[in-house]
Amino acid sequence: MGWHPLLPGLLLSLPLVTGWTTSKCLLTEGSQLPLVSRYFSLCSVTQLPFLAVCFSVTNLTQTLAAVPRTVEGLCLIGSVSSLPPDAFSVFPGLKILALNLHLTELLPGALRGLGQLQKLSFLDQPFGKKSLFLPPDAFGDLISLQSLHISGPCLDKKAGVQLPRSLQRLAVTFSCLQDVGELAGMFPDLVQGPSSRDPWTLHMLDLKFNRGLKMASPGSLQGLQLETLNLDQTHLEAARVKDLGLQKLDVLYAQSTVVAELPAEAVAHFKLQELNVGRNKIGYISQEALASCNSLKSLGLQSTGLTKLPPGFLAAMPRLETLNLAGNQLQSVTLCMNETGDVSGLRTLNLAGNGLRILPPATFSCLPHLRELMLQDNQLLSLEGQLFLDLQQLETLHLDKNPLLNLGKNWLVALPALTTLSLLDTQISLSPDPGFWGAQSLHTLRLKLPSLPAPSVLSLPMYLTSLELHASSGMKPWRLSPNVFPFLETLTIKGRGLKLEVQNASEVFPTLQHLSLLQNSLETFCSQDTSNIFLWQLPKLQSLKIWGAGSNSRPCLITGLPSLQELKLESLQSVAQPRSVQLEELVGELPQLRALQLSGTGLRTLSAAAFQRLGSLRVLVLYTEKDLVLHDSLREYSPQMPQYIYILQSNLACQCANAWMEPWVKQSTKTYIQILDRQLCLTEEGVPAKHPLFSFLWDHCPQTLELKLFLASSSLVFLLIALPLLQEVRNLWIPFLQALFRVWLQGRRGQGGEGKRFLFDVFVSHCRQDQGWVIEELLPALEGFLPAGLGLRLCLPDRDFEPGKDVVDNVVDSMVNSRVILCVLSGQALCSPRGRLELRLATSLFLAAPFPPVVLLAFLEPISRHQLPGYHRLARLLRRGDYCLWPQEEERKDGFWAWLRSRLGP
Ligand SMILES: *[C@@H]1O[C@H](CO)[C@@H](O)[C@H](O)[C@H]1NC(C)=O
Ligand SMILES: *[C@@H]1O[C@H](CO)[C@@H](O)[C@H](O)[C@H]1NC(C)=O
Ligand SMILES: *[C@@H]1O[C@H](CO)[C@@H](O)[C@H](O)[C@H]1NC(C)=O
Repeated sequence: MGWHPLLPGLLLSLPLVTGWTTSKCLLTEGSQLPLVSRYFSLCSVTQLPFLAVCFSVTNLTQTLAAVPRTVEGLCLIGSVSSLPPDAFSVFPGLKILALNLHLTELLPGALRGLGQLQKLSFLDQPFGKKSLFLPPDAFGDLISLQSLHISGPCLDKKAGVQLPRSLQRLAVTFSCLQDVGELAGMFPDLVQGPSSRDPWTLHMLDLKFNRGLKMASPGSLQGLQLETLNLDQTHLEAARVKDLGLQKLDVLYAQSTVVAELPAEAVAHFKLQELNVGRNKIGYISQEALASCNSLKSLGLQSTGLTKLPPGFLAAMPRLETLNLAGNQLQSVTLCMNETGDVSGLRTLNLAGNGLRILPPATFSCLPHLRELMLQDNQLLSLEGQLFLDLQQLETLHLDKNPLLNLGKNWLVALPALTTLSLLDTQISLSPDPGFWGAQSLHTLRLKLPSLPAPSVLSLPMYLTSLELHASSGMKPWRLSPNVFPFLETLTIKGRGLKLEVQNASEVFPTLQHLSLLQNSLETFCSQDTSNIFLWQLPKLQSLKIWGAGSNSRPCLITGLPSLQELKLESLQSVAQPRSVQLEELVGELPQLRALQLSGTGLRTLSAAAFQRLGSLRVLVLYTEKDLVLHDSLREYSPQMPQYIYILQSNLACQCANAWMEPWVKQSTKTYIQILDRQLCLTEEGVPAKHPLFSFLWDHCPQTLELKLFLASSSLVFLLIALPLLQEVRNLWIPFLQALFRVWLQGRRGQGGEGKRFLFDVFVSHCRQDQGWVIEELLPALEGFLPAGLGLRLCLPDRDFEPGKDVVDNVVDSMVNSRVILCVLSGQALCSPRGRLELRLATSLFLAAPFPPVVLLAFLEPISRHQLPGYHRLARLLRRGDYCLWPQEEERKDGFWAWLRSRLGP
C-alpha cells in the first residue's frame, strides 16, 4: 500500500483545533483543589476559581503561552534565571503567584500590571545558597499585595526594596539573615524615618528557619508595629527582641531556638498576649519569671523538659486561656493548688504525652471554664468520676493512648456539656449499659473496640452525629445498639474487625452523609455472591472514601448511591494477588457523582461504558495506576466526558490501543486532560532506546496513521475538493473506496439470497509468514476428504486469486463469494499491510452487508485485545466465541479442530 508515506504530511497540514490541555501545567478549579492538592502545595488556595501549576519551566514565554489568561493562581517550578519585564502582564487578574524558579534577578517592570496580586512567593533551595536581586521598585505595581514570602534565596542587605502599603505579612525564611536589623536595609519602609508619622504595621513578620540568625541590633526596627514575630528554628535569644525598637508586639513564636528560660522581660516589655517557646530546653520556671507574664492569654511550653510547675502557676497568669504543656515530664499536675478558691479562666489545656499515671480528684477543680482537655498519650489507668466534677463547660476530651482499664459506672455524667470524646487506643472495656456514655450532649465519638472472644453488643449514644470506630482484625462481630442512629452524618470505620449486620443500612443510618472505610476489608460491606455489589444503600450519602490497604482480592462495585458526589477509592488492589480491573467493575450507577479519585486500584481499562452511568462526573483523578488503556470508545463518547481528567503518577500502556489519545487530547475542547507521565516505552528489542509514550506510539503503531485518517474525516469535504488537484492521492484512494463500495453493493445484491450458492466455503486470510501453518495444518484438515478432512473448498489468495486482477478486487470478490471468512492472526499478520486490509474488509463486510458472512478468528499466538486495532470492531466478534487460539500442545489440538468444525457447520 503505497500511500503510507504520503498521507501524514497531507493530514498534518489540516488545521487542528487548539488543544484544551497544557503540556507542563496542571489546571484546576479551586473547589476541586483538594483532589490534586499535592501538586499545588505552593499556591493552594481553594477560594480561587481557577489555578495553574507548571513544572520544569525553562522558557517562561513558552510555558505561559499555554496557560489560560483567566487563572487567578499561578505556581511555576523550574529553572529561569531572570524575570523579564512584563513577565505576567497578560494575567491581570492574578491574585497568587509563587515562583520556584532559581531566580537570580527580577528585571525592572517584571511584575508590572499585577494590581490585583495579593500573595507573592519566591522560593529556592533553603539556607541561602542562591541570591536574588530585586530592583527597588520591583513591587511598585502591586497595590493589593498582602503577603510577600521569600523562602530560600538571600537578598542584598542594602537592596532598599520598597514595600506596598497594603502588605500585612512579610516572610523571609530559610534564608541567610544573621541579624534581624538587616531587614531595615532590605526593606527601609519597615523602619520609621524621622519624618514619617504613621508607623508601619504588619500582621506577621516571619523569620523562621534562618539558621544563622543570632543577632538583633538594638533599635534596628525602630517604630515597626508587629502583631506576630516568628523566630522558630533560629538561634536568636527571644529575650533580645525587646531591644529591636518595635513599637508593638503581641505574639512571639520562638520554638526550637536557644531559649533556656521563659523570656519574661520580653513578655513584660511588650505585654505579650501569646508566647510559644516549645521545643526549647527550659526545664524550670522561676517564680520571678512567672510574675512578669500576667499579660499572656496563650502560652506554649510543649516539649520543654518541665518536670513540675511552680506553685501559683495559673494564678500568676490570670488572663491565660490556652496552655500547652504537652510532651513534658510532669508526673503530677498541680495546677489547682488547694481550696484557696482561686479559679482560672483557662479554656484549653493540653497535657498530652506527659506520662501521667494518676490524676487526683482536685486536679481540675480550679478550671470551671475549661472547654478542651487533651490527656492523650499518658499512662492513665483509671479516672475517678469526681475528677470531672468541676468541668461543667468541658466540650472536648481526648483520652486516646491511655491504658484506661477502670472507668467508673457513670464516669461521664459529670460532664453535661461534653460533645466530643476520643477514646482511640485504650483498653477500655465497653459496658453494654447505655448509661455508660452518660453525657447528654455527646455527638462526636471516636472509639477503638476491644477484642472480645464472643460476639457482643456495642451500645452507643443514640444522638451521635459523628462516629469513628477502630476494630482490629480477628474480632467476633459486634452488634450495634440502638439499631437506629437517626442523626449520624459522619461514620468512619477503620480496621477489618467490624462486621456490622447492616443489610438495611438506610434504616440504621438514615442521615449518613460521609462514610470512610479505612484499612478495611471492603468485602465485609460487599455482597458475597457473583455480583459483588456494595451493600450499603444510603440515600443521603454524599462522600465515600475507601482505603483498602492493599488487601481486597476482588473489586466491589460501588453503585446505587443516589446522592453520592465524591468518591475516593485507594489501595484496593491486593498486594499479594494484583488484578487488573475495568472502571465499570469499580463504579456503577452514581447519577450525582461529581468527583472520582482512584489510586492504586489496579485500574487498567477505561471505556465509555463506565462513564455512561456517571452522568454528572466533572473531575476524574487517577493516581498511581499502571499501564492504563483508554479504550477508543471514549473518543466517540468524549462530548459527555468529565470536564477535568488528571492522570497523575500513572502511565498509559505502551500499546497501540492508546494511539488515538494524543490527537484527541490535543483536539478536545470540552475536556481538560492532563497526563503527567514520564514513563518511557521500550522498543521490542527491550533495550536500550527509550521513547516518550506518544512518540513511541507514533512510530510503532500503524493505526496512528489510519487514525489520522479517521480524525480527518470531518475534513473530508476539504479532501474531496482537493482530490481532483491531488492526482497522486486520488490514484491511491480511489481503489480503496471503490472496494468498500463494491463490498457493500455485492452484499446488497446478495440480499434475498437465502439459497445463494457460494463459490468457496472458506476464505482464508493470512499473511505470508503464516503460510506454512495454513498449508501444513489447515489445508489437510479442511480440504481433505472425509473422515480425516471436511471436504470443504477453500480460497487461498496465492492459489485461487485470478491472475492479473487487482489485489483489492480479488480480495473483495473472494470474500463475497465465501460462506465463511477465516482470519488467521498472529503478531506478524497484524503488522502486514495486506493482513490489515483483509481484516478491515472482512469487518466492513461483517458490519455492513445485509447478510453478513461468518467471520472466524484463529489466533496462532496469544494477542491481547488491545493489540487488535479498535476500529476493526473486532471486540464485538471476540465476545461471541468466534475465535480460538491454536494450542502449542499436541493433545489440545483436537479441541481446536472440534471448534473449527462446529463453526464451519456441515
Ligand atoms: C522561548 O520560547 C519562545 C516561543 O516559543 C521563543 O521565541 C524564545 O526564543 C524562547 N526563548 C528562549 C530563551 O529559548
Ligand atoms: C495551699 O497550698 C500552699 C502551698 O502548697 C500551702 O502553703 C497552703 O497552706 C495550702 N492551703 C490550704 C488551705 O491547704
Ligand atoms: C434490619 O434488619 C434486621 C433483620 O434483617 C432486623 O432485625 C432489624 O430490625 C432491621 N433494622 C431496622 C432498623 O429496621
